[in-house]
Amino acid sequence: MLILGIESSCDETGLALYDAAWARLLAHAVHSQVAMHQAYGGVVPELASRDHIRRLVPLARGVLREAGKQVEDLDAIAYTQGPGLAGALLAGAAFAHGLAFALGVPAIGVHHMEGHLLSPLLSARAPRFPFVALLVSGGHTQLMKVAAAGNYELLGETLDDAAGEAFDKTAKLLGLGYPGGPAVSKLAESGVPGRHKLPRPMLHSEELDFSFSGLKTAVLTLVRGRVPDPQFHADVARAFVDAAVDVLVAKCVKALEKTGMKSLVVAGGVGANKQLRAALGEAAASHAFEVFYPEPALCTDNGAMIACAAAFALRRRSGKVQSKPSGGFSVYPRWNLEEIT
Ligand code: KG4
Ligand code: ZN
Repeated sequence: MLILGIESSCDETGLALYDAAWARLLAHAVHSQVAMHQAYGGVVPELASRDHIRRLVPLARGVLREAGKQVEDLDAIAYTQGPGLAGALLAGAAFAHGLAFALGVPAIGVHHMEGHLLSPLLSARAPRFPFVALLVSGGHTQLMKVAAAGNYELLGETLDDAAGEAFDKTAKLLGLGYPGGPAVSKLAESGVPGRHKLPRPMLHSEELDFSFSGLKTAVLTLVRGRVPDPQFHADVARAFVDAAVDVLVAKCVKALEKTGMKSLVVAGGVGANKQLRAALGEAAASHAFEVFYPEPALCTDNGAMIACAAAFALRRRSGKVQSKPSGGFSVYPRWNLEEIT
């Protein structure tokens, strides 16, 4: 079964071809809108939607060509149905449903975070169910107990800002561009550890929830009124990264202890963070658990994870997806992952 995966929830247009029968990714391509949004310091939703519309067809043609397949070979079209920017989601959903209708194949709406969560399964070293998943992106910070694909129990989540949002806001305060996460991470490498002490919200609470807005405010208090100085900024970046990583790692360890599980999956944009990966590696060694990440190319938003999640959804429904598209469709800009279960 050949699935075309389409991701368009935010500022990346991702297309991929996935062979579900052989669990093989045949081709994938991503167009990032980062350069386009950079001038505005963040994603401009209207520009994002228009750019998705421009990119979808050429990218779809590209992955078909790369895999040596024809559009008629497609057995299903998977697309991100939510959460995300409404207009951006609609661009992908309309394209998916139009193509599915023309071909007479099913269109399968996928939860964006389910895509991220299952994306490590596309790696050569893939985790086995059950596992704990840390989902850390620009809009989410959640710990999930994953009994199987499609069976998600929320263990804890952020009560305010997402981890990626805290990275992005800190980047702005330090005069770094968008997207902020990689820039803060890089700057932190030249910062002196311990020169500034920032709070680690909820570090010692028994709950598995997070809070990042106080950390961001503490950064604001540190930098406000200071003359810009490269070393000072690097030291603040370091203090921020150390605090954020400490909290994320501690909560992962707690979640593994509480559930008795031995595998941790880390997915979402912040999962690419170097310092977080190093700290999780140390925690895994000392607490005897294994950590799994998606392939580097699949850490950010992409169509492969959407096609992969759709393959699991099809298997769950034993292939019973309405084969004739109904004509109408919806997107869900706000959508909780547990609702899938
Ligand atoms: O999953 P993602 O690509 O998009 C969604 O939000 O769904 O995540 C984007 C977030 C942004 O906040 C970005 O700053 C952050 O992930 N990010 C990072 C790194 N790479 C991306 N944060 C910290 N370190 C990184 N290396
Ligand atoms: Zn994402």
